[in-house]
Amino acid sequence: MTSQRLALFLTVAVCYLSWLHRVNAAKVHFADTLPTLQETQEMSTLSSLVYKFRYRQNYTCDNFPDHRDNTTKDINCHFYLHDESLGTQVLLVSNDVLKYVTVVFAGTDDIRTSLQDADIFTKPFGNNDTIYLKDPNIRVHAGFNNAVFTDNIWNQVYNQTKLLWKQKSKHAKGNNGYQLYTTGHSLGAANSMLIATAFATLPNQLPPIKCINFGGPQTGNTGWMDYFNSSSPLRDSVSIFRVVLAWDLVARLPEFFYHVGHTVQIDGKTNEVRVYYEHYGDESRGYAGAPTSWYSRSYAWLPSALNDHHIRKYVERMHDLNETSWAKGFFPTEGTIYDDDQWVSPPDDWIEVEKEVEGDLMDAYHEEDETTTLYMRL
Ligand SMILES: *[C@@H]1O[C@H](CO)[C@@H](O)[C@H](O)[C@H]1NC(C)=O
Ligand SMILES: *[C@@H]1O[C@H](CO)[C@@H](O)[C@H](O)[C@H]1NC(C)=O
Ligand SMILES: *[C@@H]1O[C@H](CO)[C@@H](O)[C@H](O)[C@H]1NC(C)=O
Ligand SMILES: *[C@@H]1O[C@H](CO)[C@@H](O)[C@H](O)[C@H]1NC(C)=O
Ligand SMILES: *[C@@H]1O[C@H](CO)[C@@H](O)[C@H](O)[C@H]1NC(C)=O
Ligand SMILES: *[C@@H]1O[C@H](CO)[C@@H](O)[C@H](O)[C@H]1NC(C)=O
Repeated sequence: MTSQRLALFLTVAVCYLSWLHRVNAAKVHFADTLPTLQETQEMSTLSSLVYKFRYRQNYTCDNFPDHRDNTTKDINCHFYLHDESLGTQVLLVSNDVLKYVTVVFAGTDDIRTSLQDADIFTKPFGNNDTIYLKDPNIRVHAGFNNAVFTDNIWNQVYNQTKLLWKQKSKHAKGNNGYQLYTTGHSLGAANSMLIATAFATLPNQLPPIKCINFGGPQTGNTGWMDYFNSSSPLRDSVSIFRVVLAWDLVARLPEFFYHVGHTVQIDGKTNEVRVYYEHYGDESRGYAGAPTSWYSRSYAWLPSALNDHHIRKYVERMHDLNETSWAKGFFPTEGTIYDDDQWVSPPDDWIEVEKEVEGDLMDAYHEEDETTTLYMRL
């Protein structure tokens, strides 16, 4: 080889390698793919819908059509389960117009206990049988974990979802255009994250799962948080986006727990949407995390912070947003100065408390109660 040829060869090789590097660097993992406004709105509709059946006895999919209206007419109910002892309520639906299969959880009846008990404890993720992570130090809130992985719930939901997915996606490459979601509000949000993770650990049965949820609490320890970082084995099989409205307090609880997935923070007044990368940010990639005051101000502004938790507020707000206001990417560290105006008191989105009622957080769910803005004591 002449030295000229060698130089040419080296140039080509270097170009090729840098191209390869760029291609790799440009690859956006499934975990980091932002949901569209439309799919996020649809998930908020489903998260609200599941509450409508809370106080109905013996509810099954048979009476589902009674509840159809403009927003739900294309939604088909396939399975519904309410475990009263655990407080778990889960609905399996599909939509052949928007082409999805979705597992929807409602908040559990013991939200208050789950979030404030002094003796909240953690346990290894899963059911210690078919669902588990290799590292036993990855621990999640025991109550949330039990609500999903108690066998009769997990087995039924998993079997039903697999069955429905097979029906919808069969005979076609690319899943027949269908997408699998999990969603929920409040503790339902926590459940939706745990079950999405479980599905993702069983990848041969199900496609990549999008979990889009609303007002979700913190779910696990630092091991759990780290499990979703950039070296996660699940980066191409599950994405988690937690929508948080204004000062919603539940999204900041319980203390000493950590978030997984990206935080989609909606400003209470301006509707500005900021997506905090994996909540805590990633400076090496230029993505900001939620500021420290994200937590402290919420505590300071009760009861506004509790009012922001209501599912109806999430649904309304999601439908106030438009394509222009919806997030186009993760909130950057560079070129941005935090707008501290919104972190000074009082909050811009302060809501008048019309009537003080001693209740607990469950009152936030009484969807039918249109007239009273409840003062919920923690
Ligand atoms: C619900 O089902 C149980 C047993 O399956 C039955 O005893 C009860 O009467 C039913 N309740 C209603 C309101 O239909
Ligand atoms: C349903 O949609 C029709 C036509 O778009 C509209 O006229 C009607 O008011 C809607 N009904 C509800 C309950 O939203
Ligand atoms: C998991 O199950 C095994 C038995 O199959 C048992 O020895 C072990 O203690 C269990 N671990 C936990 C954390 O429950
Ligand atoms: C789920 O499916 C498995 C295997 O197909 C079966 O063994 C199990 O009994 C099913 N569980 C439920 C609760 O349907
Ligand atoms: C991700 O977390 C694991 C621990 O689960 C840690 O070993 C690894 O270094 C972390 N990776 C990054 C990029 O932070
Ligand atoms: C979209 O929302 C933004 C922020 O709320 C608002 O300023 C803008 O007017 C809206 N645009 C349209 C087309 O509705």
